[in-house]
Formats: sequence, C-alpha cells, structure tokens
Amino acid sequence: MRSKILIRNLYKIYNEKKENEFFALKNINLNIKCGEIVIIKGISGSGKSTLLSLIGALSKPSSGDILVNEQNIAKLPDIFSSQYRNEEVGFIFQSFNLVDGLSVYDNVKAPLVLSNINQDELKKKINLALEVANIAHKSQQMVSNLSGGEKQRCAIARALVNSPSLILADEPTANLDKNNSLIFVDILKKFKQLNKTVVVATHDTIFDNLAFVDTYVNIEDGAII
Ligand SMILES: Nc1ncnc2c1ncn2[C@@H]1O[C@H](COP(=O)(O)OP(=O)(O)O)[C@@H](O)[C@H]1O
Ligand SMILES: [Mg+2]
Repeated sequence: MRSKILIRNLYKIYNEKKENEFFALKNINLNIKCGEIVIIKGISGSGKSTLLSLIGALSKPSSGDILVNEQNIAKLPDIFSSQYRNEEVGFIFQSFNLVDGLSVYDNVKAPLVLSNINQDELKKKINLALEVANIAHKSQQMVSNLSGGEKQRCAIARALVNSPSLILADEPTANLDKNNSLIFVDILKKFKQLNKTVVVATHDTIFDNLAFVDTYVNIEDGAII
C-alpha cells in the first residue's frame, strides 16, 4: 500500500547550540500507510506533541525528512505549509478553540466560509461532519451550553468538514470521562471506515489493544522503542 507519511532520520532540537539545548526527537523513522490508524504512546514529555506538530507542519524539524503524499513538508516554505495544513490535515487538540457564542453548526461551518462551494454542497459537508462526529443532534445548540464531550465532538466535526485525508489528534481523551472517551474510540473507528489516515498521540490506556488500530508506536525520551 502507498505511504501516506514517511519519516526519515527526524530530529527536533529545542534551543539548538545553546546551553539548554534539548533533543526532543532523536532519529525518528516511521512509515505510515494510507488509511492506517496509528497510536503514538508515551508518557508526558516523551515527545508526542512535538512529533505531531512536525507532521502537521506547525513547526519545522532540525533535520530529517517528513514526506506526506511524497511531498517533503519539512522543507516547505511557510506559505505552502499553511496550504498543506488547510487542505490536508484535520487537527484535534485537547483544547477545543470553539466560538462559544455560535451554534455547533456555525462553528463547524467556519472553515468553509471563505471557500466558494455552493450552499447545497456546504450543507452536505457540514451535515456529514456532524454525523461522523456524533453531534448532529446538537447542531442548533450554542457551544457554551455543551458538555466537555460534546464540545470535543463539535471540534472533531470542524476538523473533518474540509475532508482532510490526514487527522492528527493530540491527547484527545485527556479531558474526557470514561464514557466520552469510549465515544471517541468509536469515532476513531469511523475514521478507519472513511479511509482517513489518523495519528493519535496519547498515554491513555483506553487505546490499548484495539483491533482496528494498525500500528502502535512507543516513544520514550524522544526515540521510538
Ligand atoms: N518549545 C520548547 N522549548 C524547549 N523544550 C520544549 C519545547 N516544547 C517541548 N519541549 C520539551 O520537549 C520534550 C517533549 O515535549 P512534548 O513533545 O510536548 O512531549 P509530550 O507531548 O509527549 O508530553 C519535553 O521535555 C518538553 O519539555
Ligand atoms: Mg503532549
């Protein structure tokens, strides 16, 4: 199967060449195929968020390559990095960054307002994202009136609405109770059915031993073990 993400000899050094120089990622090599679900496991401080931010082109590596769809995003000029993020990547963060004063529907619509797709297509995309994220029943509710789990599902719908082929989730269950965490696992399974490539960084054991997960990667002190 075709590689979605190919990482070669990846290093991230914070404060490079200063006295507080820190190797956050050390020689990471990883091959993630199209449509795979990958769980990156590791304790706090092991380098998970750093790795996700590099794959999402939110920051640049110190050295090494990150090929996504055969394009080296480690070497992309900033203007193309933002295009890559907008077109290719859906981010699910611990904090949801939703607009409290808007409805669920309007929050999910936000990434599309500047695109020139017609109204029917727009509605279709929003409703599909709401369905997949299991929040369609709350579409007219104000975000300020949602529970934590519902807010997260709204944020997931917003991440999905542009139909990204790659989804990056950083500690997605960190602020959820058990029941909402299990709902997230269900949504992850739906991503698999939709043939999305998904990378989840987590230390939550709820992701252990899931049959639909293709690869578990253990990271410790910035290295894969
Ligand atoms: N901007 C930064 N400057 C210096 N050190 C950083 C920076 N960001 C993260 N680190 C350090 O890199 C290590 C890995 O951090 P991170 O990738 O956030 O780990 P995780 O997500 O697994 O908790 C930690 O020791 C952290 O303190
Ligand atoms: Mg982290």
